[in-house]
Amino acid sequence: MNVRTEDIADQQLVRKIHLGSFPDETEANLVDALRADGDAEISLVAIVKDEIVGHVLCSRMQALFQALGLAPVAVLPEYRNQGVAAQLIRAAIKTAKSKDWDGIFLLGDPAYYQRFGFSVADAANFQSPYAGPYLMVLSVKGDVLPAQSGVIEYASAFNQLG
Ligand SMILES: CC(C)(COP(=O)(O)OP(=O)(O)OC[C@H]1O[C@@H](n2cnc3c(N)ncnc32)[C@H](O)[C@@H]1OP(=O)(O)O)[C@@H](O)C(=O)NCCC(=O)NCCS
Repeated sequence: MNVRTEDIADQQLVRKIHLGSFPDETEANLVDALRADGDAEISLVAIVKDEIVGHVLCSRMQALFQALGLAPVAVLPEYRNQGVAAQLIRAAIKTAKSKDWDGIFLLGDPAYYQRFGFSVADAANFQSPYAGPYLMVLSVKGDVLPAQSGVIEYASAFNQLG
């Protein structure tokens, strides 16, 4: 399996990944809106035998430091539980580090995401409508984020989510 940055030519296939992975069009539309708004900073695809089987997106957020929001991540059903998402997430973290981002927030199941270093405790003092037991953050550069609290805001395309 290979992970690389999404090309423009991949966009329709990436949309199909999300349509095939989530119950409705919400995530596929979110990805399109984030790109259209210029907020998509890291967009990676997982390739198996020349086929795109997974996708992860990180979009810019507003925070007291350079912050990304990781969402969505999706893998085609027949390729799940083989570590595809794990490779996409690790590659996204590495890319964020190389591009000098400070932190990555996400909403998800801590049982899965803590293996990559995401922490609910570290996210606990940030103010957000998404604050709670599923909001997590990872410090990309060092052990500690430049700020441990403050208001965080996802890119505006997230406001259109139901
Ligand atoms: C979540 C998802 C991306 C995982 O992809 P994957 O390639 O199977 O992931 P990996 O092989 O790296 O890891 C499999 C692990 O994911 C867990 N998992 C499956 N669905 C999950 C979910 N919705 N949230 C958290 N963890 C999940 C599995 O239980 C397994 O955990 P384990 O390693 O402790 O046994 C994939 O199941 C998917 O596309 N689901 C539909 C879309 C979705 O819910 N995306 C996440 C929210 S944006």
